[in-house]
Amino acid sequence: MRPFAHGTNRLLFLMNHSRKQLIVGNWKMNCSRSEAIRLASHIIATFNPSINSEIMICVPNIHFADISRLKTNSTLLLGAQNIHWHDDGAFTGELSAKMLADYQISYTLVGHSERRQMFDENNQKVALKFEAALRNDMTPILCIGETLEQREKGETISFLISQCEAVVNKVGIKAFANACLAYEPIWAVGTGQTATPEQAQQVHHALRAWFAEQDKQIAEKLQILYGGSMNAGNAKNLLAQADIDGGLIGGASLVADDFLNIYSAAG
Ligand code: PGA
Repeated sequence: MRPFAHGTNRLLFLMNHSRKQLIVGNWKMNCSRSEAIRLASHIIATFNPSINSEIMICVPNIHFADISRLKTNSTLLLGAQNIHWHDDGAFTGELSAKMLADYQISYTLVGHSERRQMFDENNQKVALKFEAALRNDMTPILCIGETLEQREKGETISFLISQCEAVVNKVGIKAFANACLAYEPIWAVGTGQTATPEQAQQVHHALRAWFAEQDKQIAEKLQILYGGSMNAGNAKNLLAQADIDGGLIGGASLVADDFLNIYSAAG
C-alpha cells in the first residue's frame, strides 16, 4: 500500500506542477482612474516574476489605455472582464475583442456569474463570446458555477458539465487548448464563504475527468482556476490541491498587498 500511495502522490504532484498557476484579479466595476493607476503601479512594481505562476488583472475597460502603458516591460498580464461576440457593428455600448487587441489584452473572462445572473448571459451567448475571444487571439477564461440550491440538491457536477458542454458543442474540445476554466460557486462569490479545499478539489477533479473523457491531453493541460472569496488566508490550501491551477479573485484583488500575498502563495 505504502509505495503505491507514495507513487500516486508523486504523480499528482508532477501533474499539478506541469501546469502553471494563474492568479487573476477581477476588479469588477471598481476604481476611479487615479485609484486604478495607483493599484496597478503598486502591483507592477512589487510582484516577483515566477516561472511557476503568472499574475493577471482584469480591469474596467476604461483603464486599459493607462494600464497597458504602465505595464510595458512587465510580465503582468491584462485581461478583460467581458467582450461582445461580434467584432464590430451596431451594438451600442458594447466592446469587442478586436478593439482590445491594441491594448495588450491577452485574456478575457466569459460567462462570469454576475453577467449570467444580471445581464441575461445564457450558455449560447457565452459560447459565442468564447469563440470571439479565440478568433481574436485572446484566451477565454470560461467561468462556471452552481447556486447553493443546486449544490444542496446534488446537481453541482451535472450543472457545471452542462455549462462546459454548451461551449464544447460550439467550438470543439480542441479549442480548450487555448482556454482556461474558472470554477466559481455562486454561493462563494463575494460572500466571504469559500469552498473548502476538499470541496473545490472534488469539483475540479470531476471537471478534469469530464474533459479527459473527450481528450486526455487537453484535460491534462487545462488550467482550472478556483474563484469565490479566495483571500490571503485561504489561498495556500486551495492552491495546494492537485487540480487547482490558480485563482480568480474579486474583493481581495483590490487590496494590492492581499493580492500579492495570494500570488506569492501560488509559488
Ligand atoms: P470574490 O469574487 O473573490 O470577491 O468572491 C470572485 C469573482 O467574482 O471572480
